[in-house]
Amino acid sequence: MSEWDSLVNSILNCKRCRLSQYRRNPVPGEGNVNAGVMFIGEAPGEKEDETGRPFVGAAGKLLTELIESTGFKRGDVYITNIVKCRPPGNRDPEDDEIESCLPYLLKQIELIKPRLIVALGRHAARTLFRLGGLKWVNMSMMHGRSYNAVINGLQVVIIPTFHPAAALYNPGLKDELRRDFEEVI
Ligand code: URA
Repeated sequence: MSEWDSLVNSILNCKRCRLSQYRRNPVPGEGNVNAGVMFIGEAPGEKEDETGRPFVGAAGKLLTELIESTGFKRGDVYITNIVKCRPPGNRDPEDDEIESCLPYLLKQIELIKPRLIVALGRHAARTLFRLGGLKWVNMSMMHGRSYNAVINGLQVVIIPTFHPAAALYNPGLKDELRRDFEEVI
């Protein structure tokens, strides 16, 4: 079995944290495993839990549209989340759940070796900044800029931006999100 297949297998059978009791399907991620660009969200929602695929609900529709606005196709990039299982009722992931799931994300980054990571929302951004040894302040100050980081020995650029779900019902935020995609991705 390839390293990638064995990683996906571990995620599909994971019982490292309490989220394994509530999930229907773990959501490892999808896309091009040789991608130069990774999009990393927070955690699966209801549709993702149902299908085992990341960003397939309303927020996913907006994300796909934003990705395509940059000239990429959804299948050209790799899309995943910090936490691979849905928190009950879509609550925020807790710190110990993020921690238990991190080895999977680190292995994905090690195997994909992206040059660019787009962190969607504050949970993804603060986690990736910590992994990259950078100080996270807040999204309103830090979104839409490129930050050089080293994650597990890999030199990457992290771009934090708003979570598409937060932008769905907030036209001002949606405009900022679109601008971040147009200007820096
Ligand atoms: N929100 C996320 O952060 N990730 C998904 O996969 C879907 C919604």
